Amino acid sequence: MEKGDALDLPIADASVDVAAQNCLFNIFKTEELQRALEEMYRVLKPHGRLVMSDPICEQPLNETLRNDERLRALCLSGSLPLATYLEMLTKVGFGTIEVRARRPYRILDPAHYPTTETLYVESVEVCAIKDPMPEDGPCIFTGKHAIYFGSEDFFDDKKGHVLLQNQPLAVCDKTANALVQLQRNDLYLSPATFHYDGGGCC
Ligand SMILES: C[S@@+](CC[C@H](N)C(=O)[O-])C[C@H]1O[C@@H](n2cnc3c(N)ncnc32)[C@H](O)[C@@H]1O
Repeated sequence: MEKGDALDLPIADASVDVAAQNCLFNIFKTEELQRALEEMYRVLKPHGRLVMSDPICEQPLNETLRNDERLRALCLSGSLPLATYLEMLTKVGFGTIEVRARRPYRILDPAHYPTTETLYVESVEVCAIKDPMPEDGPCIFTGKHAIYFGSEDFFDDKKGHVLLQNQPLAVCDKTANALVQLQRNDLYLSPATFHYDGGGCC
């Protein structure tokens, strides 16, 4: 085993199949987070995977909370909203993202923490894959499924997605949006479950 700094990994470029981190990226502020993600991206082989879990929070955290190093180290006050967290990943180049789990984590309430608002913190498990970035943007799987319930045996969108009659197909958010835009009355698009477990569309 070799110890190293997440901001300057002592590992050669494109040499790792799977990288993992837990509750570290939420401790970093934006610049350090970007640096740590660039490092993970650098050391992964093409199609390599970065598997990670961190707390997230959809409510804004005030500056006192954000700048409290003890609370950050306790994984309580560095959380980002999920969309921002995922954007950080796609910004460094990960072309495929899987949101594999989203769970309740902590409550930060005014009686115990420097906040006037009660804050709900969740935790996410995400896998970021070093696939090439598609021209039309990243494939982000959040557990959405498409179901074709028309009278044919299948529906083919001619873009690589064949939906068997009344069988759910996991689709990325981009494909889900494109299928909604078709305005068909024989396609059902489920909301995100945040429990994507494979079987993706792209
Ligand atoms: C909140 S803990 C994560 C807990 C750990 N995943 C576990 O389950 O026990 C964050 C860890 O990241 C380490 N850490 C902080 N900054 C780091 C850096 N720049 N490079 C590598 N590790 C760092 C800390 O020493 C600490 O052990």
